[in-house]
Amino acid sequence: MAHPELTIYDDPEKLAAGAAEFISRSAAESIAARGRFTLCLTGGSTPRKAYTLLARQQGDAAVDWSRTFLFFGDERFVPPNDDRSNYNMVRESLLKNAPIAADHVFAIPTQVSSPQQAAEQYANTLKSFFGSDVAWPEFDLVLLGLGDDGHTASLFPGATALHEADRWATCSPPGVLPPPVDRVTLTFPLFNAARQVTFLVSGANKTEAFVDVYHGRVPIEARPAVGIRPAHGQLVWLVDQAASGPVKAT
Ligand code: 6PG
Repeated sequence: MAHPELTIYDDPEKLAAGAAEFISRSAAESIAARGRFTLCLTGGSTPRKAYTLLARQQGDAAVDWSRTFLFFGDERFVPPNDDRSNYNMVRESLLKNAPIAADHVFAIPTQVSSPQQAAEQYANTLKSFFGSDVAWPEFDLVLLGLGDDGHTASLFPGATALHEADRWATCSPPGVLPPPVDRVTLTFPLFNAARQVTFLVSGANKTEAFVDVYHGRVPIEARPAVGIRPAHGQLVWLVDQAASGPVKAT
């Protein structure tokens, strides 16, 4: 894996603006090179502001939504209009304001009989889009968050999902962090097949986990995010000053 890139922003607002610019730049590069931009979104609260800014971008800075396809790295197993739903957060921050067609947005289904069925259905959705003949889908950009326990997506400390080596999507029981609901999550091999994986991290409560994961000096069982090691792609950290602690930008 190439050495991770790290950009540190003074505060959460600058991180959000920097993240929106980063995403739209990645979109322009992907579309210029391959005619489309496949973006796997993170949930949680950190990205909300960045998604809002991304939807409002105008002119050359704006994403070409007609060539952009949105996916989700994980989801809480709740209805799509539930306040705990990652889809609901993306709809309120991004989809309401960005001119993206509904058939360009691939939500994880949570109105099915079980999280297991949701994971199987979503894996099939991904295979229909990327082709079932590929070993792993190659997203142009995967966005990830970092929990203060070092989880990412819904890959929680000690979970069996950490060791999933074959499935594109799986399910996970509630982690110790809120909300305590079943989860559906994409898997490490899938994330690590991406062309670019970018963490968005904000807040002093993330410092300890960020420093551990950034230096890669803890086991995956303890800080799952260390499992994010893109095989061929670039790993990028966009972090605010509060979360960065003693780590210096590259
Ligand atoms: C989720 C996310 C999760 C999140 C981290 C950080 O479903 O909650 O996928 O991995 O990114 O828990 O969350 P915050 O951004 O809210 O701190």
